[in-house]
Amino acid sequence: MSPAAADMLDPAHFANVLKPPLEAESLPAWCYTDPDFHRLEIERLFMKVWNFVGRDDLMPNPGDYLATDVASIPIILIRDKDGTARAFANSCRHRGTQLLTGEGNCKAIVCPYHGWAFDFDGALVSVPGMDETVGFDKDDHALIPLRLESWAGFLFVNFDAKAESLADYLGTLSDHIGSYNFPDMVTTRRKVWDVACNWKVYLENQRESYHVPIVHRESLGDQVATPLDQEGAWSGSLIPVEQTAGVMKDETTPFPPIKSLAGEALEGSHFLGLYPSTYFVATTDCFWWMEIKPRGPARIELVVGSGFPRETVARDDFESVVERYYRRWDTSHKEDNDICELQQAGLTSPLALPGRLARRERGVNAVDRWIVERMLAA
Ligand code: FES
Ligand SMILES: [Fe+2]
Repeated sequence: MSPAAADMLDPAHFANVLKPPLEAESLPAWCYTDPDFHRLEIERLFMKVWNFVGRDDLMPNPGDYLATDVASIPIILIRDKDGTARAFANSCRHRGTQLLTGEGNCKAIVCPYHGWAFDFDGALVSVPGMDETVGFDKDDHALIPLRLESWAGFLFVNFDAKAESLADYLGTLSDHIGSYNFPDMVTTRRKVWDVACNWKVYLENQRESYHVPIVHRESLGDQVATPLDQEGAWSGSLIPVEQTAGVMKDETTPFPPIKSLAGEALEGSHFLGLYPSTYFVATTDCFWWMEIKPRGPARIELVVGSGFPRETVARDDFESVVERYYRRWDTSHKEDNDICELQQAGLTSPLALPGRLARRERGVNAVDRWIVERMLAA
């Protein structure tokens, strides 16, 4: 049973989460189901930290836009006339209507309700029929800008003006995966799934390899991961395999390795949780990511994006060979989606209790610890 909303952040609820991993328990079940706890997560996590929202190459030209969201808070990403990517709240400054949906290109951001038009820098430039409105000044009604920073072609948004820089937030991430040369990678696909589970269920699943020999027995086979030293808002592991992690276990390596790989990136594939709700994999010949976007406490929209080096995408056989990668992702994600929905169904029971963790579930504890520390500190 959930505690009252006012008591949810009592540290006593989380004392067992903050123990060393092999002495710890998972989060209380109500953390995965309760609407009040979910509201606190949005206030104390999602609205305070850097959230991955999309790849820079999804909007190459001025006027290209992507309407997306952070924990269901709608935002606009748009390329301005100078080539700078910008982010705004996706709410009209007249009476709040969502301005853009999906993705595309526009000449101006025009509200579909009463036709107010905003420039790519957010300025209100055209307002029909407001000439008799007393004291109305267009300059007071620009779109609400959001902090947008990028790392290696990945765009992040932050709602908190006082938050640290993205570079400080990500800490040593570049030291581990910088040599994959992500700015030269091309996003080739974004597949969207609707999954009936809490966002933490999904992130925890990705951060543990305990389930892999069972849930992915036929598709991937077992994958033993080595934890990485972690600093900053991520945790992860290295799976020391020579061939790509981007295809199923019975496939051979179809594409050549990324030429720039150096150091640790030559030792295996990186599997990283970027908090709060992005999961990221970089392997010998490609990368993929998951945007685990909360839709309330018991549902996510899962976006699975993927990218390959520009010279790989230019190969004559790219379109046919890449199907092997897409088949791997579609298969393994279906397996994870289904098991996460089953876990959510069990966690929804009033009888569900926290559980102990195996050696191969240290990543679950890393995720839960980050969440609890942030929730209690905010
Ligand atoms: S709500 Fe946008 S123009 Fe009226
Ligand atoms: Fe999995």
